[in-house]
Amino acid sequence: PLVSLRQLLDHAAEHGYGLPAFNVNNMEQIKAIMEAARATSAPVILQGSAGARKYAGEPFLRHLVTAAVEAYPEIPVVMHQDHGASPAVCIGAIRSGFSSVMMDGSLKEDGKTPADYAYNVEVTARVAELAHAVGVSVEGELGCLGSLETGHGEAEDGHGAEGALSRDKLLTDPDEAAAFVKATQCDALAIAIGTSHGAYKFTRRPTGDILAIDRVKAIHQRIPTTHLVMHGSSSVPQDLLEDIRAYGGDIRETYGVPVEEIQEGIRHGVRKVNIDTDIRLAMTAGLRRVAANSPSEFDPRKFLAAAMDEARKVCIARFEAFGAAGQA
Ligand code: G3H
Ligand code: 13P
Ligand code: NA
Ligand code: ZN
Repeated sequence: PLVSLRQLLDHAAEHGYGLPAFNVNNMEQIKAIMEAARATSAPVILQGSAGARKYAGEPFLRHLVTAAVEAYPEIPVVMHQDHGASPAVCIGAIRSGFSSVMMDGSLKEDGKTPADYAYNVEVTARVAELAHAVGVSVEGELGCLGSLETGHGEAEDGHGAEGALSRDKLLTDPDEAAAFVKATQCDALAIAIGTSHGAYKFTRRPTGDILAIDRVKAIHQRIPTTHLVMHGSSSVPQDLLEDIRAYGGDIRETYGVPVEEIQEGIRHGVRKVNIDTDIRLAMTAGLRRVAANSPSEFDPRKFLAAAMDEARKVCIARFEAFGAAGQA
């Protein structure tokens, strides 16, 4: 069944686990996630960006999710709008049947320019009032994530005084988080704790403590009933990078967020963990393997079945690592 984000995350909080929220754009990604959920008995959060609705088209995305709900009746599914850039985008998602929306008022409508606090409160509160009236949940965001929002290709890795100092300015402030939640009534809050979007998060292998876990703890203490969200939480598995390179791809050295750091976040109130890049990498590894090993192959299903298989494996690993397995 389709459920709201609030329902799923309240359950996750009660039972002390976290849920991966996977970005979806097409049938193959949705099927890979749903198969992984069925294999592990995990609840599901599917999320679509504005880019996803543009890529698939609104009717296709809507019907693909409806198909998933029908084909996997035993799995609770949230359909969530990722990074809604304006109240209009969120309202469009609600009309399309989404059970949860993110109003990302940390940025202006262009999705790039940092917005001020008053603007963020105003748009998020407006969306929450509308969404809650029809049983839809709302995620807000406070703070400044890395690459997507600053325009920088790489996040600071926090090592060394300069990196640590400039990173600290980007982190979500606990007092401001408390005021924001009170003013907006959002159900979940995306916080900036040192992650960034995309494959190029860290240039060196993280040696532990790369996220500001103390900040997670401080925020969780101030707003214990608001579910914390970690964006930019792909782990960028090295074995997938090696496969992609072995089969002709060219991806430079890069590291993601270690699963252990996410688990530490989950111990301190993180309930929704956004993952897009890891599925992209998994599917690319599968596609490239078939292309490299079977040059005469031209049935797209052979490429896509391999891509789905790789994506399913990543999803199973995350459902298990975050404690969501067995919770459906
Ligand atoms: O937050 C960004 C997500 O990874 C979605 O990316 O806008 O390319 O669909 P996208
Ligand atoms: P990744 O790029 O780390 O997968 O993050 C995705 C995300 O935060 C989508 O909102
Ligand atoms: Na932000
Ligand atoms: Zn994000």
